[in-house]
Amino acid sequence: MTWTLAARAARLEPSTIREILKLTERPGVISLAGGLPSAEGFPVAAMAEACARVLREHPREALQYAASEGFGPLREWVAAELATHGLQVQAAQIIITTGSQQGLDLVGKVLIDPGSRVAVELPTYLGALHAFNPYEAQYLTVPCDDEGPSPERLDAAAGARFLYLLPNFQNPSGRCLGAARRLALAERARAIGLPIVEDNPYGELWFEAPPPPPVSAAMAGEAVYLGSFSKVLAPGLRLGYVVAPPPLFPKLLQAKQAADLHTPGFNQRVVYEVIKDGFLQQHLPALRARYKAQRDAMRDALQRHLPPGCRWNVPAGGMFFWVELPDALDATALLAKAVDAGVAFVPGAAFFADDARANTLRLSYVTVAPARIEQGVATLGRVLAEALAS
Ligand SMILES: Cc1ncc(COP(=O)(O)O)c(C=O)c1O
Repeated sequence: MTWTLAARAARLEPSTIREILKLTERPGVISLAGGLPSAEGFPVAAMAEACARVLREHPREALQYAASEGFGPLREWVAAELATHGLQVQAAQIIITTGSQQGLDLVGKVLIDPGSRVAVELPTYLGALHAFNPYEAQYLTVPCDDEGPSPERLDAAAGARFLYLLPNFQNPSGRCLGAARRLALAERARAIGLPIVEDNPYGELWFEAPPPPPVSAAMAGEAVYLGSFSKVLAPGLRLGYVVAPPPLFPKLLQAKQAADLHTPGFNQRVVYEVIKDGFLQQHLPALRARYKAQRDAMRDALQRHLPPGCRWNVPAGGMFFWVELPDALDATALLAKAVDAGVAFVPGAAFFADDARANTLRLSYVTVAPARIEQGVATLGRVLAEALAS
């Protein structure tokens, strides 16, 4: 039998990160490569109790097919929660998705034609590029500084189908846009008619102060906003949501129906049971404290062990440090050596839609205990120093 693949299948690529994660499963390797949240933070007891309650009180509804939009009370909860962050939306604008990754795919399906231009940050989330690639997007990269995309340079993206933006503790760079930058971006985007798709899986993982209101809040209801329960509860639930402006809502919903009919109703009800009475107000401070201690451990270790010429940010939340190595070093070429020495990272090149910067890498601090972070970063420092000396 000869299978003829659709042309778009050529644009589906193995995820670099998943390939790297396989390497890190070698015994003895300290993996700073993962993009996973800490499993220590999963609310196992609360989930067990909620599962039992849902099965006791609504077993047949929870196990039946359900509405494509999502579970009504959960949609209401999301709308009320977003309002506390300065984003006023109707529950009727919300579609519960199978992770926010599905939201990205639906956005791609509904908004991208072959050759459509999509504006992205430099660097950007690799999973978004994977979601948009099969729809044959052509990327326009918006020049960024330490505070994210520069509003003055946004005009070059005029005419793009949308700008994909990660304002809070970006994956991979860890950067967080300040309030003034958000307003300036929203104002410029509106002036040039550039729609914004805002992705916010990390906003609740702040260490010192919550991030400013979403960019969408300044877009007069015209932006798409994606959220997720993966980083605040557990990614295995596969629960996220998309807030759609009215003209887009029906098409996104139809795309959702075609994709999987609906996100598991059981999971939606369980999560609603867990969060409806304020559970996150107790859970999140503990999670933030855990991640902050690990962030501090990595900050101190980087300071102690990385050779001169390396530069990094100190993220104010989220899960990642982004390291720029001296120009002569290629992080992809160094990965095998690092893994042999006992530490893994994600080379940064894959996070660039174009003009990949080979001298960058991403380090995650959330799944490794502080003592192991110290050990892993010390090993990385030795590998880099050796490479610089050779
Ligand atoms: C920026 C960003 N967006 C979306 C996702 C997808 O998250 P999920 O599908 O688990 O909600 C991730 C996952 O790591 C991410 O980093």
